[in-house]
Amino acid sequence: MNRNYSHADNLIHQFDTVLRTLIPRAAVASRPSPATADIQDDEMTADERRHAAGLMRVNHTGEVCAQALYQGQGCTAKLPEVRSQMEHSAQEEIDHLAWCDERLQELDSRTSVLNPVFYAASFGLGAVAGAIGDRISLGFVAATEEQVGKHLDEHMVKLPAGDHRSRAVLRQMAIDEAHHAHLALEAGGARFPAPVKFGMSLMSKVMTKSVYRF
Ligand SMILES: [Fe+2]
Ligand SMILES: [Fe+2]
Repeated sequence: MNRNYSHADNLIHQFDTVLRTLIPRAAVASRPSPATADIQDDEMTADERRHAAGLMRVNHTGEVCAQALYQGQGCTAKLPEVRSQMEHSAQEEIDHLAWCDERLQELDSRTSVLNPVFYAASFGLGAVAGAIGDRISLGFVAATEEQVGKHLDEHMVKLPAGDHRSRAVLRQMAIDEAHHAHLALEAGGARFPAPVKFGMSLMSKVMTKSVYRF
């Protein structure tokens, strides 16, 4: 049966996604975590584990932002032909969310209490970009994915040497994000000029500094 979703259906679906994104352990991955049973960490000190948790908390919040961005964009953008591609990317972000959350639990830590704030900000930015036009909103997705990719590369270096399980998660995420950026550009996304990217990296610095601890 071909079913047209009503406004009410869409609202419920949106609300469900918000809850799954923001409530710890509520995200369900469609792929198993890359931190498989055969990957074991070397011995880590308490400080090293705390540091790893700080970095993974930042990565988790990055995924909250990505999820909010895709959702905000989905609310306002037209995107008929690229919607399914973007939905595929958004689904992979849910995997990333769940994997980071799982890893934080393994490190006896938690996701950030600031997630609702960053969710709201990213949702707003995504919705505004979507309302301006598909080219801009897809460009925004591409620039964000590139930014996240840079973070992941940095974090793979900064993680404690013995933290092989976090590194396995980040490695797969980096592969996925590069693919998401490529899809968004291929779908017609504008390449953002350097000053816009600079502004975005300043914003991500604020997020990184606050979420590492809180
Ligand atoms: Fe992601
Ligand atoms: Fe992504």
